[in-house]
Amino acid sequence: MAAVSPGKDIDLVMASDPLPLRGYDFVELWVGNAKQAAHYYRTAFGFHPVAYAGPETGVRDRVSYVLEQDRIRFVLTSGLDPDHEVVRHQARHGDGIRDVAFAVPDATTAFEQAVQRGAKPHQAPTRRRDEHGEVVLATIEAYGDTVHTFVERERYDGVHLPGFAPAQAPASQPVGLRTIDHVVGNVHPGGMEAWTSFYERVLGLSQFRHFTEEEIATADTSLMSKVLVDRRGEVKLPINEPGEGPKRSQIAEFLEAYDGAGVQHLALATDDIIGTVRAMRERGVGFLDVPAEYYEQLPQRVGDVDEPWDDLAELGILVDRDDEGYLLQIFTEPVQDRPTVFYEIIQREGATGFGLGNFKALFEAIERAQARRGNL
Ligand code: FE2
Repeated sequence: MAAVSPGKDIDLVMASDPLPLRGYDFVELWVGNAKQAAHYYRTAFGFHPVAYAGPETGVRDRVSYVLEQDRIRFVLTSGLDPDHEVVRHQARHGDGIRDVAFAVPDATTAFEQAVQRGAKPHQAPTRRRDEHGEVVLATIEAYGDTVHTFVERERYDGVHLPGFAPAQAPASQPVGLRTIDHVVGNVHPGGMEAWTSFYERVLGLSQFRHFTEEEIATADTSLMSKVLVDRRGEVKLPINEPGEGPKRSQIAEFLEAYDGAGVQHLALATDDIIGTVRAMRERGVGFLDVPAEYYEQLPQRVGDVDEPWDDLAELGILVDRDDEGYLLQIFTEPVQDRPTVFYEIIQREGATGFGLGNFKALFEAIERAQARRGNL
């Protein structure tokens, strides 16, 4: 048998996989006021507006703003009448992530395969054309009211999709966000196994990590998490469910505030987390507070890193190390009024994990501070 390079190997696997994912195509948020949300993601997160659809482009029932930063594409959509599905979704869940869309070479085959493997169809393959070419879109249902659209766009060279016009917007100042690193879903107790097996069976993902209740626990709360990854390692989908504990975990709080399962956070990758977080803080993005105690133990816990400790402590950036390297991460506050969707900013320096060491170190640091106040 002829030797093949690792790259060739991946191509061979992809060629024989009837449902090959080519990474994320876009993430669509259904929000109460897409115009203002677009302004927030442009000014605070540094996204650049690239496309718009609405009454002016022949779309009568909704408006959508498409924004990009390097390889990340967000679509922000609002409905225009009181009984519109987007308006009802927003009334129930608050602003939230409706669609995590994947790029595929053939959306019809992807949809048929997924449905054959047990996915619930949401929208059968639909061909859409304009003067820039054609796309095929097909959508399956996932946890809660979340969906996954398969996007086939090889024969399209317009902005985003047919029906969209180039955005008329002033230039933005990017903050260095480059790709979507992972997309985390929160599901009800007992749902983690079911949704893990859904992604294994339907999309051909494999289990990458499993975090037990004991690993992600404080004295008061816990959660469980499984991480699914595609063959290329580009699509990483952790699924959380609340664990046992005397108090209500953050997952249980999300499920109540979102009125169901849904996307809890998107992790956005940067090559320069210090520059990215400094810029976002200057623009008013709020991040979770990290107690000063967290940094006292940090050099002993994670060893040498290239970034100055002072900058990490000043900005509240967390550090974790695994067998392959280290990672830097930080979490925003929820970006809407309900305690639901938030973002993680992550810089990977070899590490492939998700910051398990930080769950404990961060929670323990919080509890040490509580203890000093006499509240633990
Ligand atoms: Fe994360």
